[in-house]
Amino acid sequence: MGFLNKLFGKQIKEEKTMTTKKLNIGIILGSTREGRVSPQVGEWVKNIADKRGDANYEIVDIADYNLPFLGTTDGTEPGIAAWNEKLAELDGFVFIVQEYNHSITGALKNALDFAREAWNNKAAGIVSYGSTGGARAAEHLRGIMGELMIADVRVHPTLSLFTDFENGTVFKPAELHLTNVNAMLDQVIAWSGALKTLR
Ligand SMILES: Cc1cc2nc3c(=O)[nH]c(=O)nc-3n(C[C@H](O)[C@H](O)[C@H](O)COP(=O)(O)O)c2cc1C
Repeated sequence: MGFLNKLFGKQIKEEKTMTTKKLNIGIILGSTREGRVSPQVGEWVKNIADKRGDANYEIVDIADYNLPFLGTTDGTEPGIAAWNEKLAELDGFVFIVQEYNHSITGALKNALDFAREAWNNKAAGIVSYGSTGGARAAEHLRGIMGELMIADVRVHPTLSLFTDFENGTVFKPAELHLTNVNAMLDQVIAWSGALKTLR
């Protein structure tokens, strides 16, 4: 072993450093409205994710960036640069998606439009909610992700405003969603790692 270490020690150390660096995954809250329920859903996903210990998971709240409406200012607001810097740090995403008029929120679309390269060649999963699990909004988001070169994974936990929330406001998710969230994260981690090699 001493002989092998002498021969390959440096190489083994380098490989270890490469493989043990954890991926950074952002859990992006898609709604910014006063009284929104998205922080409850985001925290629930983060708690499940943190127990896995396979990546650095963080909540990324669009509301924190005070993004103006795209194209209505000179673009010097610090939040615009900060938003792009945050996205650039991330290797993958989990979008917390709520259905507004059968689509995603205007706030999420605006935030998506505010970056380009920072989205490219990364993976994403979707956790959505609404009267029909937010399915229509999630499918719209998939179309947008194609244009932004974000690889969206198949497994998609869908939460019902009627059965996973009390009075549509207090989040009480059914047990069955846990398996789906973990399966979605398995795919996000696998693809985020694979796509890192392209960047
Ligand atoms: C402007 C608006 C439009 C909505 N349209 C839909 C809809 O088309 N389908 C649906 O299932 N829920 C719809 N809802 C209900 C939202 O999904 C629900 O209020 C949810 O809590 C919104 O997420 P948030 O609390 O994180 O903002 C709508 C809500 C708003 C405010």
